[in-house]
Amino acid sequence: MNDVHGREINYLRISVTQACNLRCSYCVPARDSTKPHCENPLSFGEITRLVKIFSGAGIKKVRVTGGEPLVRKGVPGFIRDLKSLHGIEEVALSTNGVLLSGLLDELKGSGLDKINVSLDSLRRERVREISGSDVLPDVMGAVERIMAGNLFQLKLNVVLIKGFNDDEILDFARLAFLHPLEVRFIEMMPTAQNRLWDGKKPLTGAEAKSVIEQEFRLSPLFDPGRFAGPAKVYATADGKGRLGFISPMSGSFCDGCNRLRLTADGRIRHCLFSDAEVDLRPGFFTNEPDEWFLKRFVAALAQKPSAHNLTNTSAPPCSRPMSAIGG
Ligand code: 5AD
Ligand code: SF4
Repeated sequence: MNDVHGREINYLRISVTQACNLRCSYCVPARDSTKPHCENPLSFGEITRLVKIFSGAGIKKVRVTGGEPLVRKGVPGFIRDLKSLHGIEEVALSTNGVLLSGLLDELKGSGLDKINVSLDSLRRERVREISGSDVLPDVMGAVERIMAGNLFQLKLNVVLIKGFNDDEILDFARLAFLHPLEVRFIEMMPTAQNRLWDGKKPLTGAEAKSVIEQEFRLSPLFDPGRFAGPAKVYATADGKGRLGFISPMSGSFCDGCNRLRLTADGRIRHCLFSDAEVDLRPGFFTNEPDEWFLKRFVAALAQKPSAHNLTNTSAPPCSRPMSAIGG
């Protein structure tokens, strides 16, 4: 289904929990002193019903995300149910990779198509510093098993952080040259609770790209896939993998937006940076029919703005941290 700005909206990002087993400095407070933001997440059965309804309005791809989705029990079975829905052509998972290794076989069995792993450094001490835990060996173990078994299409998401990982941009590019995976550099955004946001211009995708071009020849992929969103994707000449740049702060990012989000507490969010949410929970309390949910879905779509209102240096404009929106 197209929105009022002519964009085809075919992709739903589903947050299954706001909880996370890491505490990345740009995402959440150092210690979760507050009670869980979301004490009553939708059940997997409720979400599956919603996806079935929304597939009738053009949703063809879904991504399971969080917080950290794998801290919730039962994700592989949930993915299997999503995969069985008529009209859902692709199911992907975003994870920090900490619990991934032990779940790979089940996830493969569930029919999952793609995995994005968040990883901001290839150096063990830095990962500990940014995320609060010494998890690089676990994350890389899972990444290596996925590549060795060619289990899933794999992307690594790297948030660009000035003074932290800007000296590793080429290391990440080399990884994408040597292995069949896509490394995506993401400009840091001023989400709520971002402890690294200093109000200054963040490191941009264009800056990362020019560092990489000192060593690699990049050629743009004009058709990076059917459900490609705002990332600009490049092949590395003679390399195995790809490089992607996601530039919400500096680029014309919103033109390619193809998505809506479903928060763990049952709200549709039509833009990362708009707090206008459509609450679906009441419909479950009063046993509303499918049409009720569909009407609200279409209403959320109609409100989707043409672009977010961020300037390069704006203060956090949304009330939820990424972990509560669905990264
Ligand atoms: N800016 C950019 N990306 C972010 N993420 C979380 N917070 C931010 C932020 N402030 C990313 C994570 C991960 C996904 C959950 O969202 O790195 O890739
Ligand atoms: Fe957790 Fe991802 Fe946020 Fe890190 S970025 S704290 S892994 S939700």
